[in-house]
Amino acid sequence: MRHRHTVLFVDDEVNILKALQRLLRQEDMNVVCASRGQEALEILEKTPAQVVVTDQRMPEMSGVDLLSNVRERHPDIVRMMLTGYTEMNVAVEAINRGEIYRLITKPWNDDELRATIRQAFEQSDLKDEIKRLNQVTREQNFKLQDMNRNLEGKVRERTKQLAQKHHELRTAYVQTVGALAEAVDAKDTYTRGHSERVGVYATKIAREMGYSKEFIERVYIAGLLHDVGKIGVRDYVITKPDRLTPEEYEEIKMHPEIGAKILEPVDFLADIAPCVRHHHEWFDGSSRGYPERLLGDQIPLPSRIILVADTVEAMTSDRPYRKALSLDRVVSELNKFAGSQFDPSCTSAFLRLLDREGESFIKSDQKFDIYEFIEG
Ligand SMILES: [Fe+2]
Ligand SMILES: [Fe+2]
Repeated sequence: MRHRHTVLFVDDEVNILKALQRLLRQEDMNVVCASRGQEALEILEKTPAQVVVTDQRMPEMSGVDLLSNVRERHPDIVRMMLTGYTEMNVAVEAINRGEIYRLITKPWNDDELRATIRQAFEQSDLKDEIKRLNQVTREQNFKLQDMNRNLEGKVRERTKQLAQKHHELRTAYVQTVGALAEAVDAKDTYTRGHSERVGVYATKIAREMGYSKEFIERVYIAGLLHDVGKIGVRDYVITKPDRLTPEEYEEIKMHPEIGAKILEPVDFLADIAPCVRHHHEWFDGSSRGYPERLLGDQIPLPSRIILVADTVEAMTSDRPYRKALSLDRVVSELNKFAGSQFDPSCTSAFLRLLDREGESFIKSDQKFDIYEFIEG
């Protein structure tokens, strides 16, 4: 609730003080009086007032001196002077020095004086309100700054969680589809583990070629999933030990497209789908490649890398109709088809690896962890 307004009058003439009290008796305010400057200052220490009105010419302390004292000790009190025409120059100077809010001349007009006092209270209330609002604004600013700090922290935390979730989802999906690829490999005892090994070989080749972690991860996943489309090819055709008929060969040739169609609807594997679709294209764009006979760098780079890895894996594994081939044979085959079937930059990266690692290249794929491999 709002406090009651108080005005303090200071004058050495008792009659004037009495007249002022009479004048304001009906008003809703406290009226306090003092007849000396010192007395007025003592009253203000105990009684909070919003307005002080003082005479100028008084013994001991003049009105201007009193007001400048009040200004120092209680800067929020509205200060006014009630003065005769003879003291006008002093009063005007006091106004100019900013000591007083308003000047009332003696003899005063009753209505005017009442109105002026009311305005002084309004002025005081306004100052209070501005002060209060400033305080509220300051507090809200602090609160806002605090909230901002909290919010930034929360956003950081959430972003981290989202990235983590995204990674988990991706890993889970790759595992699921990888399991599918494994199931496809398992349709034929001779190709068990084929997809995983192709993924590993392709990863090694990509790293040898100096590509980024993100690219290597993509190559690994594409390698893991390259033959997933064989799920749509009849078991009989996949496991047939004899030569395939032209029709059966056409059916086998469908697997890159079937695989791409399985992966396309999954947002975060959308960039893997084209790598799967084109893993049997020939580098020279010839008709021996499929499905689209893309040429050179029209073929996604991961597909070109996977084709080398796929060929190496197939040649170094036993098949029903032949034993695993020697690494020398693998090398001469790759050299023979570099530039026609294979991208020469991929074969030469593989040959450099083989030079360094020898036999262990095709035997070191136990418990392969792609992330350990990229970081290491
Ligand atoms: Fe394939
Ligand atoms: Fe394959």
